[in-house]
Amino acid sequence: MENELRQLLAEVQARLLGVNVLADLEVVRIEVLGRKGKLAELLKGLAVLDINEKKVIGVVANEVKMGIERAFAEVEDKLSAAAVLAKNESEWLDMTMPGVTPEVGHTHLTTQAIEDITNIFAHLGFVRARHPEVDWDYYAFEAMNMPSDHPARDDWETFFVKGEKGVKGKMVLTPHTSNGQVREMEKGVFPIRMISIGKCFRRQADVRHLPSFYQFEGLVIDKKASVTELKGVCDYFAKSYFGPDRVTRLRPYHFRFTEPSFELDVSCSVCSGTGKVDGVKCKLCKEGWLELGGAGMVHPNVIKAGGLDPDEYSGFAFGWGVERTMMMRAGLNIDDIRILYKNDLRFIRQF
Ligand code: PHE
Repeated sequence: MENELRQLLAEVQARLLGVNVLADLEVVRIEVLGRKGKLAELLKGLAVLDINEKKVIGVVANEVKMGIERAFAEVEDKLSAAAVLAKNESEWLDMTMPGVTPEVGHTHLTTQAIEDITNIFAHLGFVRARHPEVDWDYYAFEAMNMPSDHPARDDWETFFVKGEKGVKGKMVLTPHTSNGQVREMEKGVFPIRMISIGKCFRRQADVRHLPSFYQFEGLVIDKKASVTELKGVCDYFAKSYFGPDRVTRLRPYHFRFTEPSFELDVSCSVCSGTGKVDGVKCKLCKEGWLELGGAGMVHPNVIKAGGLDPDEYSGFAFGWGVERTMMMRAGLNIDDIRILYKNDLRFIRQF
């Protein structure tokens, strides 16, 4: 039995030479030292020995057991040190290396303009509203004093949605944000000071026009609204958005949904409204003024469509393009409006 024990030690030492990974070591350990392992099997033989033999073999058995355990411990030390080394190697990190700066994005310049515009009008008590961008013909035209087949509709090169007519006509991709006027009045909360900003769609695409663009629509409905107030609001906006030295003028115009109607012009930033730079015609505006968009006193028929009595209520409205307004801001000289939505990072990152 003594021989068998010593043989087991030698056998284990030899086996362990060939073990290279910790998991394999565990397999061998169970096989040798486990409850039903080789050593336990051998030691069962102790039971049949007499007391003297037991003493001698007991000492040997102890030595062998310790020898085996030492052999396992040595291999385990060696293998775990190697494992740590390998891990360090694979997860090596140089703390002194310059980091990779994560790219921080920002809002698109149209979104920035929408926020600026909203904030400026908020100072005057205008509340931001949203209205459908796909709406009934009724809100886009009919309620705006443009009955079906009225030639004025042609000015809004409209996309119609295929499908059945409803009680409020066909559906259109809103060609202007003016559809929000009667919708806002239908809410029944007066007075109204609304700034509605949304997408508009027209059948047009060239260096100055996009088929999908934004407008901001101002609407005031109150007991006594006046052209003077309209002019004041326009001036306040122009000075806040374009700069304190800019002035505005209202030029007579025609819209079916306002009476009187105006085009709002803003003095040119390049020639300061004079139309000339060093005695030569201003290249940007040619005559001192840049056209911002339409405005006017809300037509009595529109007020009626909104459920109000035009003798009691009056109002003014304006509707201007976000992109056009933004491009008129000094310093932004874009010669093709379509660049705004081409997602060219070289352009977008500049703002
Ligand atoms: N809806 C008009 C347009 O798209 C602009 C406008 C709005 C004019 C409100 C007058 C009043 O051109």
